[in-house]
Amino acid sequence: MDREKEFYERLERKGVSRRDFMKYCTALTAALGLSSSFVPKVAEVFAAPKQRPPVIWLHFAECTGCSEGFLRSAYPFVDELVLEILSVEYHETIMAAAGYQAEEQLHQAAEKYKGKFICVVEGAVATKFDGGYGKVAGRTFLEIAKDICPKAAAVICLGSCSSFGGLPSAKPNPGGYKSVSDALGIKTLNIPGCPPNPINLVGTVVNYLLLGKLPELDELGRPLFAYGKAIHDQCPRRAHFENDEFVEEFGSEEAAAGYCLYKMGCRGPETYNNCPIAKFNDGTSWPVEAGHPCIGCSEPDFWDKFTPFYEEM
Ligand code: SF4
Ligand code: F3S
Repeated sequence: MDREKEFYERLERKGVSRRDFMKYCTALTAALGLSSSFVPKVAEVFAAPKQRPPVIWLHFAECTGCSEGFLRSAYPFVDELVLEILSVEYHETIMAAAGYQAEEQLHQAAEKYKGKFICVVEGAVATKFDGGYGKVAGRTFLEIAKDICPKAAAVICLGSCSSFGGLPSAKPNPGGYKSVSDALGIKTLNIPGCPPNPINLVGTVVNYLLLGKLPELDELGRPLFAYGKAIHDQCPRRAHFENDEFVEEFGSEEAAAGYCLYKMGCRGPETYNNCPIAKFNDGTSWPVEAGHPCIGCSEPDFWDKFTPFYEEM
């Protein structure tokens, strides 16, 4: 109880009221497809966590944008909330240790929590030339992935690079970059996006802590609660050419359809993600709302498959 009280006091000091926090939990519960009776339980996962699963967070070929996006999410301090409900044992970007000390920490944590830790991976794995295109501390990404990932209870790929190969695997791909799943021949839970929305990782973790299992996945390993629908099917711009009121407002069906970004190359009809609902920057906006077509950043092979971006599909 003390812990819970301390949690709400800490939020209060940061200007987040209990009401705001409960609103966030309600939205998260709905995003997870759970009934509203789960809201207090979701709040409890943050406020009074019963367990803090150990996490090893690996970085391979990527821009660290997934970590950056995640750590910069301000309201309601998703980064802190997650760092409090998880026990992050190794994360190159945010850990204080460096060099041998950091490497020691990685190996000790992987042995100590063998079969129990969650491995979060950002970045693709170089596979050609014995993985020679990418190394950390003298070991190739491939060696590290082969060593650490099989010891984890679950491997969560954060971002399109680790999930599907992303930009590093775009043509001509001299290093033979692949997704973690293809490089190791294992099943992974994938949270693609360039960058992915932090709420989709939070939802996955909360699902795990609340129900003791990972969320239901589609055939590409993506949580259905976040990637179950096409962008186009949730897009408010679509309403403009399908709604009589808007057609009247715009004067004709053609004019209303002009509000849609399809002719500017929008890949919304082929892209599965919850951007229109979850939005970015603390729920402020998302690419199509800001006037830019969706480039399909969360789909497999998005770079090769969807370029040139501004041409109609
Ligand atoms: Fe679909 Fe894109 Fe048009 Fe929205 S802007 S309705 S996602 S094609
Ligand atoms: Fe990516 Fe399209 Fe969403 S470009 S961020 S999946 S709107």
